[in-house]
Amino acid sequence: MSERIVHPVDTRTEMTWLVLPQHTNNVGGVFGGQVMAWIDVCAAISAQRFARKVVVTAAMDNLSFKAAAKDGDVMVLQGQVNFAGRTSMEVGVRVESENPLTGKRVHTSTAYLTFVALGEDGRPTEVPTLAPVTETDKRRHHDACVRRERRVQARAEDLERRKK
Ligand SMILES: CC(C)(COP(=O)(O)OP(=O)(O)OC[C@H]1O[C@@H](n2cnc3c(N)ncnc32)[C@H](O)[C@@H]1OP(=O)(O)O)[C@@H](O)C(=O)NCCC(=O)NCCS
Repeated sequence: MSERIVHPVDTRTEMTWLVLPQHTNNVGGVFGGQVMAWIDVCAAISAQRFARKVVVTAAMDNLSFKAAAKDGDVMVLQGQVNFAGRTSMEVGVRVESENPLTGKRVHTSTAYLTFVALGEDGRPTEVPTLAPVTETDKRRHHDACVRRERRVQARAEDLERRKK
């Protein structure tokens, strides 16, 4: 186990983007793939703030878009590390769209991504210990542990299937 201890608050990232015509489809809504790219960048910054090492995206859990954002809206992405394993970590990213005229915000998606820290040899390397502090940190950590168990099981089943 790593000796360095990091609190979730120190991994927080907030990114704000204006939705421009080049980010939209032909009905003026933002491209889902564009939102996924913004999510990946936001989450990678949180993961690096946590690990202080090179990190790569290993996986992004199922992502659904609950509401559409459109040309002229402001996208607000907030990321934080929820859970750390030995070499991997889960980052949660909440995405909201903000109407710039009214300030009203709508929750459009939440994504959970797994990053792996790499050493100089390009192989997975240890990450620090995550120490949840607030009740919200603890709830997120608990929920992330459950998701992590599911992913580990799904990965093991996938490996087993490939062997057959
Ligand atoms: C991610 C990667 C480094 C994992 O390498 P690996 O040799 O399979 O790693 P391991 O089996 O030793 O697993 C390392 C950790 O990653 C986790 N992990 C690996 N693949 C995972 C996946 N698909 N989903 C969730 N977690 C995963 C493992 O659970 C383990 O976590 P732990 O150390 O915290 O227990 C490797 O698959 C890779 O380089 N993938 C390409 C990454 C990439 O190009 N991303 C896009 C651009 S950034």
